[in-house]
Amino acid sequence: PKDVGILAMEIYFPNQYVEQSELEEFDGVSKGKYTIGLGQHKMGFCNDREDIHSLCLTVVKRLLEKNKIDYKQIGRLEVGTETIIDKSKSVKSVLMQLFEPSKDTDIVGIDTTNACYGGTAALFNAVCWVQSQFWDGRYAIAVAGDVAVYPPGPARPTGGAGAIAILIGPNAPLTFNRVQSSHMVNAYDFYKPDLSSEFPTVDGKISIQCYLSALDACFKRHSEKEGRPDVSFNDFDFFCFHAPYCKLVQKSFARLCFNDYVFHVKNGNENADSKYPDLVPFKHLELEETYFNRELEQAAVKCSKAAFETKTLPSLMLASAVGNMYTPSLYGGLVSLLVNTGADSLLGKRIGMFSYGSGLASTMFSLHVSKEKEKIEKLLVPLNDVPSRLEARSAVPPAEFTAILKAKEDAYNKAPYQPVDSLDTLTPGTYYLLEVDSKYRRTYARL
Ligand code: ACO
Repeated sequence: PKDVGILAMEIYFPNQYVEQSELEEFDGVSKGKYTIGLGQHKMGFCNDREDIHSLCLTVVKRLLEKNKIDYKQIGRLEVGTETIIDKSKSVKSVLMQLFEPSKDTDIVGIDTTNACYGGTAALFNAVCWVQSQFWDGRYAIAVAGDVAVYPPGPARPTGGAGAIAILIGPNAPLTFNRVQSSHMVNAYDFYKPDLSSEFPTVDGKISIQCYLSALDACFKRHSEKEGRPDVSFNDFDFFCFHAPYCKLVQKSFARLCFNDYVFHVKNGNENADSKYPDLVPFKHLELEETYFNRELEQAAVKCSKAAFETKTLPSLMLASAVGNMYTPSLYGGLVSLLVNTGADSLLGKRIGMFSYGSGLASTMFSLHVSKEKEKIEKLLVPLNDVPSRLEARSAVPPAEFTAILKAKEDAYNKAPYQPVDSLDTLTPGTYYLLEVDSKYRRTYARL
C-alpha cells in the first residue's frame, strides 16, 4: 500500500482540572514554581468514574463516530498504556465490547507497556501491520491512554490524564519518514514496582538526565542516518516532544540546538561558531557533562527561542492545559500542533517527533504532511473542537482535587467497589465505570 500513515486522530481528556497556580498556594510552594518553573497551567484528572478502560472506550468510540468509520473496517487494534489495573487482561480486550454489535472478532493486536513509550510502540505496530504481508485491507487503530498520578509532593503537579486514538491506513495525510533512530537502555529513573499502588517510584533528577541523554543519542543517530554532513534540526519545520512538563520541552528544543552545534563542530563545519555565537564558550564540553549546566541551558534557550516559538510552542497547548498524559503526551503534542497551525501552513511540511518512556525506551522519527489540502483538512476538521473542549472544562479547587485523589488511593484495587463520584462533570458520549463486582469484573455505561 502507498503512503501508509495517520488518517485520523481523536483525543479525550477529563472534563475537570485543577489550576496549577491555586495548587502552588495549596501545596505551600513558592509562587510560580509550577506555572513558570515547570510551565504548567492546568492539570486534568479523573474521579472514580473514569479509569483506563473508560478513557480508551470513549476515545475509540468517538474516533469511529466522528470520522464515520464502520467497525467492520478495523482489522488491528493496539493499545499503549502504563496504567495497569490487571496483570493479565488487556485494555484491548475490554475495547472488544465496542465491536460486539458488528459481531466482529477478527481483530489482531494487544497492549504494549513501557512507561510513556507504549503509545509509540502501538503506533509502530499498527503501521508495520498495514505495510506487512498480513495486511488484509482494513484499517488499524493505535490507542494511547493513561491516568498519570503522583503522590503528594514535588512530582504531583506533573500528572495528567487522557487518551488518543490514531487511525492508520494507506493514502494518508501524515506519512512516516524512512529514517528513525532509537536509544534503549536499562535504567531505573521512573518505574512502577509496587503493584498495590497507582503511583510510580521516581527519581526526578535521574529521569530528566535519562530523558536528555536519550534525546542526545536519538538526535545524533538520526543525523548520522540522514547521511548528509549539513543536516540540522532546521530540516524539521516543526518538532513535537514527549512532554512531562512544558519547561523540559523548551530545554529539550534548546538542547537540539546545542547538539546541532556540537555535530557541526565535530564535522569541521567552519560556519558553526558564527551560526551559534552564544554556544562558543561551551564548544569543548562533552554532552554527558552538560545535563544540568545552567549557563549552557540559558545560552541554548536564548539562541533557540525564535525557532522554539515557531516549531514547538504550538504543540504544547494540551501539555500545558492537561498535563503529562504519559503515553498520549507526544501525540497530544501532534494534535495541538495540527490544530494551532492549520492546513495552509502544514502543507508539505516535516514534523520531528521524539518519544521517551522511562526505563528506558526512546525513538526519534518524523512525519511528512501531504501537499494535498483536502487530505489534511479531513484530518483537521474532526479535531477543531479541541480548544473549545479545553475551555469548557470545569475547575476543581485544590482541596477537592486532593480529596478525590486520596479517596481513589484508598479505594485502589478494592473489590467489590461502587463508584461514588458524581457523573455531572462528564460530557455526553463519555464512558464511565458502573461498578467493580466481587470478582473484580468491571462494567461500564455511556453517558
Ligand atoms: N518561580 C519560578 N520558577 C521556579 C520557582 C518560582 N517560584 N520555584 C522553582 N522554580 C523552578 C526551578 O528553578 C526549576 O527550574 P529549572 O530546573 O529550570 O531551574 C523548576 O521550577 C522546578 O523546580 P525544582 O526545584 O527543580 O523542582 P522539583 O525538583 O521539586 O521537582 C521534578 C521537579 C523533578 C520535575 C518533579 O516534578 C518530578 O519528579 N516529576 C516527575 C518526573 C518527570 O516528569 N520526569 C521527566 C522525564 S520522565 C517522565 O516523563 C515521567
